[in-house]
Amino acid sequence: MAVRHFLTLNDLSRDELRALILRAIELRQMQHNGEIYQPLKNKVLGMVFEKSSTRTRVSFEAGMTQFGGHAIFLSPRDTQLGRGEPIEDSARVMSRMLDVIMIRTFEHEKIERFAEFSSVPVINALTDQYHPCQLLADMQTWTEQRGDIAGRTVAWIGDGNNMCHSYINAARLFDFQLRIAAPEGYLPDTAILASNEDHARLCATPAEAVAGADLVVTDVWSSMGQEEEQAAREKAFADYQVDAELMAQAAPDALFMHCLPAHRGEEVAAEVIDGPQSVVWDEAENRLHSQKALLEFLLG
Ligand code: CP
Ligand code: NVA
Repeated sequence: MAVRHFLTLNDLSRDELRALILRAIELRQMQHNGEIYQPLKNKVLGMVFEKSSTRTRVSFEAGMTQFGGHAIFLSPRDTQLGRGEPIEDSARVMSRMLDVIMIRTFEHEKIERFAEFSSVPVINALTDQYHPCQLLADMQTWTEQRGDIAGRTVAWIGDGNNMCHSYINAARLFDFQLRIAAPEGYLPDTAILASNEDHARLCATPAEAVAGADLVVTDVWSSMGQEEEQAAREKAFADYQVDAELMAQAAPDALFMHCLPAHRGEEVAAEVIDGPQSVVWDEAENRLHSQKALLEFLLG
């Protein structure tokens, strides 16, 4: 059987995604009950990080340990990958020793090339283009709080970045309507938008996007690798902060999510992220459970 990768949400069918979310909810309950469950004994996950991480690293590493397996942290500073060993060679060598590999990098093409030459599943732990693992956690969190997200409305406020692209894919796969408010020059990829046009559309203003929305989501104005653009971005995004006034225009029981790390006073006001509609801590915790469900699925 061909090896399954998870480079974008599109690598799984709607039914597989749905089952994975339900399994993640079960795994969370099991973990909270102190149940020992070790389906990945002696399995090893390689974790290649070319960018910083708190949640992704800790959740994958803790998840593998809880599953009875092991995780190896691989930084480009210490591996030959960082000294120019070809991706194709690295993929062939690492996949002969590891059972599954997760990669956080810059260009999405890099992870596609790695996956092409890997004999074991490759998981996208964030590229410049997508962040599918975060969407698993977000969809789990929504489902736990409110049930099925099908038919609901989600507002994306801010940068048309990797998270926004994964939300666009999620809108089609989980069947919700996504309204995106992003400033000119920072819109999401037109091709990704076009292939999901039944489920995602651009709005002229944040107010238009959030009107009556069930879920409001934002992310940092400058992603990793865009640090020098910070000043220009602060200017461009000045009217795109999710504050209490904007949140009040969403549905009365709307939830707020943010993949974190967050910058209070920039993309989100403290009163929102630390307020009663925010579910960001569950969302962060669910990285652990949903990725365990993903590992179980890919290695099952
Ligand atoms: N949300 C997320 O991926 O966080 P980290 O960058 O800390 O892994
Ligand atoms: N868009 C952010 C997400 C961080 C988890 C970034 O790429 O830096």
